[in-house]
Formats: sequence, C-alpha cells, structure tokens
Amino acid sequence: MSARWPTEGLAFGGDYNPEQWPEEVWQEDVALMREAGVNLVSVGIFSWGELEPEEGVYRFEWLDRVLDLLHENGIGVDLATPSAAPPVWLHLKHPEMLPVDANGLRYTQGSRESWCPSSPVLREHALRIARVLAERYGQHPAVRMWHVSNELACHNGRCYCDVSAAAFRDWLRTRYDDVDALNAAWGTAFWGQRYASFDQVLPPRRTTTIPNPGQRLDFERFSSDAFVDHLAAEAAVLREVAAHLPVTTNYMVMGEFHQLDYAATTPLLDLVANDHYLWAADPDGWAELAFSADRVRGLAGGEPWLVMEHSTSAVNWQPRNLAKNPGQLLRNSLQHVARGADGALFFQWRQSRAGAEKYHSGMVPHAGRDSALFREVVDLGATLGRLAEVRGSVVERARVALLWDTQAWWAAELEAHPTVDVRYLDQARRLHRALLDAGVPVDVLPVSASLDGHDVVLVPTLYLAPDGLADRLRTVAERGGQVVVTYFSGIVDEHDRVLLGGYPGAFRDLLGVRGEEFAPLAEGARVALDDGSVGEVWSERATVTDATVVASFADGPSAGFPAVTRRDVGDGAAWYVATRLDPASTTALLRSVLDAAGVEPLVRDVPAGVEVVRRVGDDAAWLFAINHTDADARIDASGTDLVAGEVHDGGATVPARGVLVLRQDH
Ligand code: GLA
Repeated sequence: MSARWPTEGLAFGGDYNPEQWPEEVWQEDVALMREAGVNLVSVGIFSWGELEPEEGVYRFEWLDRVLDLLHENGIGVDLATPSAAPPVWLHLKHPEMLPVDANGLRYTQGSRESWCPSSPVLREHALRIARVLAERYGQHPAVRMWHVSNELACHNGRCYCDVSAAAFRDWLRTRYDDVDALNAAWGTAFWGQRYASFDQVLPPRRTTTIPNPGQRLDFERFSSDAFVDHLAAEAAVLREVAAHLPVTTNYMVMGEFHQLDYAATTPLLDLVANDHYLWAADPDGWAELAFSADRVRGLAGGEPWLVMEHSTSAVNWQPRNLAKNPGQLLRNSLQHVARGADGALFFQWRQSRAGAEKYHSGMVPHAGRDSALFREVVDLGATLGRLAEVRGSVVERARVALLWDTQAWWAAELEAHPTVDVRYLDQARRLHRALLDAGVPVDVLPVSASLDGHDVVLVPTLYLAPDGLADRLRTVAERGGQVVVTYFSGIVDEHDRVLLGGYPGAFRDLLGVRGEEFAPLAEGARVALDDGSVGEVWSERATVTDATVVASFADGPSAGFPAVTRRDVGDGAAWYVATRLDPASTTALLRSVLDAAGVEPLVRDVPAGVEVVRRVGDDAAWLFAINHTDADARIDASGTDLVAGEVHDGGATVPARGVLVLRQDH
C-alpha cells in the first residue's frame, strides 16, 4: 500500500449525492461543509443513471459544476466508479446480467447492485464508464482518490445463474485440471456424486438435502474471486488513465458479513477503507466496533486506513433504528481513529428527502443546520481538526495477535456440523472483548500475516487451518511465545475433508492432544470445569499425548476429559481450550497466558468499559482513552488532551461518556 493520503489532516466528510437536490442546495452544502471542516467527500457512487441516461449519451455538466464548486471551496473528492448502480436501460437491454438466487429466482432491477459478478456484459459496461470518468476527471484538481464501486458483494454476493455456472466450471478447471482431482477433493464417492467431466458440474443450487460441502466451499471461493477480479479490472483501468491517484474500495468488515475474502483484495488497493455500522440493539456495540477496527487495521498491514462510512445517528435498515445518544458520535468516530483510521467519513452528507434511505441519518439532517445533530457534526469536525497531527502515525504494535480467516469462516459454517451453536466469530469476539476489558492491546490479523514480534497468538475456532500454520505457531512458542488454540480448529484440509487420526488433525502434535469424539452441549447448557471455570456450547473427548492438563470437565458429556491443556514447547507453550469458556473464565485463562508471556495492560487498572489505545509517530505518541460508561474514570496517564485542550499531569480523568486524546512527547 502506498502512503498517498487524500487529505492534509485527518479526513472528514461523507458520501455526497448532490444529484438528489436542486442546485441552490449545493451552495448551502459547501457553506455548511466549510463550517463543519469537511475536507473529503465521496461523489458519484450511485450516479451512473444520471451520468449516462441512455447508452453512450453522457451528461457530465452537473458533475463538472459539482467538482468545480467543491474545489473552489477547498474540499477534496473521492470519485467513485458507479458500478454499484447500473442504469435501468442496461438492465432492460441485458436482463441476463441480473443475479439469480440458489432457488433459481432471478432478481429484477429496482434497487442497486443487481448484477451477476460473472456477467461479461456488466464488466464491459462498468469498465467503459470507469474509463470515461477517469479520462474526464482524472486530472481534475478536486479529485484525490478513486472509490471503486461500493461495498462489493453486499447484495449480490452469490449468483447461481447459467453464466455463473459456466464461469464456475472454468474456475474449477483451472483449480483441478483433472475432473478426478475434483472428485477426490469433493469426496463425490459419497452419495454417488461422481462427475465424469467438468461440464456436468453446477453451482450449489437448491437441492433436496445437504449439498456437497466441497462444492459449497469452492463456490464461496469462486464467488469471492469474481469480485476480486472485478475490483482488479476497475482498478487497472483507473491506474492506466490516472495513475497518480490512490485507489480504494469500501470494505464491510462489520458484524457477520463475510461474502468477500478481503485478504485477497488488499494487494490491489493503495489504501484500505471500511464501512461500519453499529447494531443498534447491541448495548456493547462499541466493543464490536473496536473488534471491527482492529480487523481492518490487520488487513491494512498496520498502516493507516479510512472509515469510509459510518452513521451520525440512526440507520434505516435494522428492525429498530435507535438514534445515537449525545456524545456517541464523537466516541464512535474517535474509536476508529484510535485504532488506526486517519479520518472518519459518513453515509451521507445530507439526509435524503426521498428514496429508500430517507430515514437514515446524515451529517445535515432533515431539520437542517439548526439542529443538535449538525452542531455535533461541527464539533466533531473541529475535534478532528485539532487531532490533525495524529495523521500518519500508527497504532503501537501489540504483543498479542488474534488470527482470523474468511475461508475458515466459510468452512466453519457449512451445513450439518456437530452443532449450530458454533458461530465462527463468537470465540474471536469473546477473546477480543476480554483483552479489551483488561486493557491489553491486540492485533487482529489475517491468518497469513507474519507473527514475528507477537508473544501471544490466539487461534479461535480456526476450523480450516492453512498448511504450515502449525509450524509457524510452533516457531512462536519455541522462541518463548504462548499459543492458544480453541475448540473446532484445525479439523479439515482445504477441501473440507477431515484430517484423520484424532482431532485436531492440524494441531495434534503442536498441542499434544488427541480427540476421539466431539461432544457438543445441548442448547443453552453449560459445563463445569474442575478449576471453577464454566464452558458453553462445546466439549470433546480428548486425551493428552504430550501435554499437561490445566483443567478437566467436571460434568457434562465429557466429564473427566481434559478441557484446558498446556504443552511446553521450546521456551514457550501451546495451550488447547476444548470448550467455549464463559466471559469470566476467558478472562481468568487469558490472565494466566498473558502472565506467562509477561504481557501487561497498556495502562494499569483501567475500568472495564474504558478503551485505551496508543498511536505512535516520529516525535510523539497519542493515548486515546474512550469512556463508554456513565461514570468518570481515573486513569494513570498524563499529557495534553487534544480534545478539550487541557494538560493532565499525575493522572487524568476521562469524563463519563467522554474521550481524551493525550499527546505524550517522546
Ligand atoms: C452502506 C452503503 C451506503 C448506504 C449505507 C446505509 O454502507 O454503502 O450506500 O446504503 O449502507 O447504512
């Protein structure tokens, strides 16, 4: 990734959709943007139908005027290619580009992203309009960055149409070369599913009962690859025409979304950008935000990244769209910045008057400038302005790493597994939350990332572990690190075939444990461990072959079998946890592991609910302290607070629901 950043200080702004408004409003828009300190807006994301109302007939005058106006007002533009919203005429001319679901139902146009990712028609037209835009605007002085499409794979992540079927077969031919290799990989001897040629293979469309898991997993990979290809193709056109501008696209590293293997896309981008929306019903949404931001930083290789979208207040797509409370906007924005974002952008600048998202908050609400929300936006802009010096610094490297992987996620949640209660992210989030509450920083890394420099490596529910991971973990332990692997990890090979000889096949030797049978728990059941810990969801009947039993199951279906084990490896150790420990037990286990590695919290005795993160630059460091509780919190840290401008010496008080950013000179 390159260091070209689109703004001088931290980026602040949002999606700007002036085509939804008469031109008089544009003048007010730029005046209010200046008042709020906006320096970057994303333009044109859904404008294809306005820019090309008929095939080959372009209307650029409005966009010319918008870009000129923004430039005159010192506001930079993140210019989008409009492939997220193909125009009606294209859909009508080529209905075959509309996606088809697993039941064979073809979608109609009428919303957005209604295209099959394997459609050559869509690809051709998307590249054509991208080129036309790049040629017209690539040298425009307002344009600072390219925004490829929008949230790739959000609505059209999987398409089962005939075009996709043919593309899937080509993908399989490349992967396996020989159809018998495919038969072996997918275990087609089971239920007599043997293929005599690639031509017989279909996408995993709706079928009578459990589909073939190898086919399902390859289809996930194929579908994700189709979007990676699309991104690569658009990025290539933009770079061919206007190579001086950085290229990004907005990820959806949030909640449960996992249609796209983002780790495969980062080499295509100059900077990583993410969209994040809180799940309003989750009172601990801030902790999910922290987890998301840490994952994005891991994808960005620790470099600064950008929040391309979040919301000033409510969204419109959840069952109950709760408004943010006063102060929450600042906390959420600075959470992202604390965890490595060099800016905070929003969907969207002006709340729409019409259309599907008119009840989604914006930076300028329906009530207009004279509103508490706009005043909060102005305050946020001023605060980010005071934090400008943070730009380019990085989050201090953590000693703890937590690994995750989209392919393992796909595989872990295939049908017909031992229990529906194993959800891929559960264990990762629980571990992350325990570290958050303990004030211990963690790098959340794609599974292929380097582990050099990490002294504790956590491997939650990595059902499908890539080849070589066990050796990389052994190296960490041999040099004195602590490795923790949890239940349902290392079970299958890349084709979802079980690694034989006892679970967990990939990690059996590293952990010194051999499992004979899974024994998941009944719904809602809990098991006691003999050290007082409590397990949920999972147990198993395993024995130690070369490890020490730290705790055993005291009751439940695996009573008497080891639940937590440790094997000394070199100067360190490899731990196995054969159940999902409840939150208190997770905290206790992590305390033992962190003590063994000598890892301490960033700041001692920080109350739970107060996040503390440090970014470091060449001459200074910035300690972000974000208080999500209703009580003032005293922390043992000093420095000049860039939010309120006060100097704190001999400790600082983080106000209830407030934020401090303490500059600490080296
Ligand atoms: C996504 C999209 C935006 C908008 C928001 C609403 O992030 O990228 O266009 O639909 O959701 O939350």
